Parts: sequence; C-alpha cells; structure tokens
Amino acid sequence: MTIDATARAHPNMALVKYWGKRDEQIMLPSTGSLSMTLDEFPTTTTVQLREDDGPDVLELNGAVAAGEPLRRVTRFLDLVRERSGSEARAIVRSRNEGPTGAGLASSASGFAALATAASAVYDLPQDTRSLSRLARRGSGSACRSIIDRMAVWHAGEDDATSFAEQIEAPELAMVVVVVDAGGKKVSSREAMRLTAATSPFAAAWRESTARTLEEMLAACREGDVERIGELAETNALRMHAVIQSTVPSVRYLRGASVGVFDAIEQLRADGLQAWGTADAGPNVVAITRPADAAAVADALAGHGAVRVVRPGPGARLVDERVAPASTGEAR
Ligand code: PMV
Repeated sequence: MTIDATARAHPNMALVKYWGKRDEQIMLPSTGSLSMTLDEFPTTTTVQLREDDGPDVLELNGAVAAGEPLRRVTRFLDLVRERSGSEARAIVRSRNEGPTGAGLASSASGFAALATAASAVYDLPQDTRSLSRLARRGSGSACRSIIDRMAVWHAGEDDATSFAEQIEAPELAMVVVVVDAGGKKVSSREAMRLTAATSPFAAAWRESTARTLEEMLAACREGDVERIGELAETNALRMHAVIQSTVPSVRYLRGASVGVFDAIEQLRADGLQAWGTADAGPNVVAITRPADAAAVADALAGHGAVRVVRPGPGARLVDERVAPASTGEAR
C-alpha cells in the first residue's frame, strides 16, 4: 500500500507586493499584499509517504534534487511532521511548467502544491485558511497561490492571523513578457534581508505599501481597472527602487525589462490601457483588460516570449501522479 496525494497550484502575480518580513522564523510579512492567481505555469506535486526509513527525497522535473531545494522541502516537511505527529519521511515529485527562478514565483506554486498534497497525506486540516497558513511557511507568497483568482494576504499578528483569502475584483488579464528565463542571482529571501539591513528607504516602502494596499482594495471593490493598474505599476517600481537601494545593490530588472516598461508607457500614450509590474526577476508583466490582452501581447511580442494569462484556480488535489525520475537503474 502506498499513501500518496497529488496537488496542482499556479503562480500568482502581486499587484501590491510583499517585500520584507516582520518575523522570518514564521514568515510574517511586514505588510499585507494582493495578487492574481494565474491560470498558466502550474506546478504539480506528488507526496508519497515512505514505508522504509530512508530520508526525504525531492525530484524536480524528473531529476533528483539536492542542496538548498531539498533542504527547504525537508524543513517544510519537518513542520508538517511536527504538526501531524507522524515521523514518516516522504518522496516529493514535482513538475513545474513555468520558467523556474525567473521571477515568476515558482516557489509560490511549488509550496502551495506541496502544502496541499502534504496536508492530505499527513492528515492535517485541509480548509483554505489552514492551507494558506501552512503554504506561507514554505514561501511567503505561496499563501496566496492557495486562493482562487484574486487574493489579499493579511499581514496578521501571528501564525494564526497571517493568511490569504479571496477578494472580489474586476476581470483582468496579464501579458507575461519573458525577457530572460534564466535563474536569478540573489534569492528574494536574501534580498529582503539586505533591504531591511541596508536600505534607507525600507520604512518608507512599508508605510507606502500599507497605504497602497488599502487603496488597491478599494479599487478592486469599485471595479476600477485603471486605478488598479496605476497603483500596481507604482507599487512594483517602488519595490524595485527599494531593492536597488541596498548595499550592495540588487538589480533584478535588466535593460530589456526597462524596455518593456517603456513600451507599456508608449501603449498608454497611444490609447491602449496597460500597466507594468515585475517580481524579483527580469520578466515584466503587463496588466490589462481581457478585451485588450491580445493587442497588448502583439505590441509587446518584440520584447520577448509573450503569454496571456487570466485569473486561475487556487491549489487543489488532482487525481494523477507525477512520474518518478528515471534513474537508469533496473528495478
Ligand atoms: O515568497 P517569496 O519569498 O518568493 O517572495 C516573493 C516576493 C515577490 O514575488 C517579489 C513579491 C510578491 O508579493 O510576490
């Protein structure tokens, strides 16, 4: 008998960014944030309990993973084991359909899928709030990928009160412009620490983001797409400003990324409404209305591989399994 469960989750793109932790141990953010869960680039993860006494194993896209990715998954499973009272180790097989490590938050879809599958096999609570709180411990932004379509992550005061939940918002579309699918040199965890330790603008970032979140929640309630776009672009550029004000400076945006922001500004001057955002990587995402998405994608196609994405589903269990890595050994 094998005990396993498989879950699928999608990345999310923040319209109000999470950048900074109040408590790194339990992943409490210094401010709340707000995002759209995407309908593309899913991560599918199977968690299978081991029946022998071997260690946790991580297989990523068909290859056995070691080093930091394995350590992060093991630390996460240790928390799951602590909560469930089980000592069973697990084999985690994960398949990622987005460009890993390029600022499209594969860690968010990854830990949302892992939290969902692990909660099923280790018999932990599986309501949305519990899953969101657990996913947060793997990677902060993962708590939002548990949620359907649009999510607000309440910063909270402690482990119990820091979770994401769904909000109503007008229909949006996004055009992802992949200018560089390579990995990033500085992890968001590292760069957040550096921001807190060295940027003279860190406090201003926190204060302005808390205000922006309130304004964004109001714009979502009112269905004001133009306001949502303006707030999101300003917030993203402020995040990159605070990140590059660190010592040493971390710059995630490349020349090509800035070119996409320029092109988006030109689109607006030409009468097509789109606004730019970017996470901790070089790729830029244009926020727009569904009816304008094809035209925006056409206009930005010269800058990189473009993909139109829409609001997608939160993490859920699926009835399939990620295939084991082929080791080349006969079994
Ligand atoms: O969850 P992390 O540690 O990968 O942080 C992600 C932070 C950003 O993607 C840059 C912003 C956000 O809110 O998603």
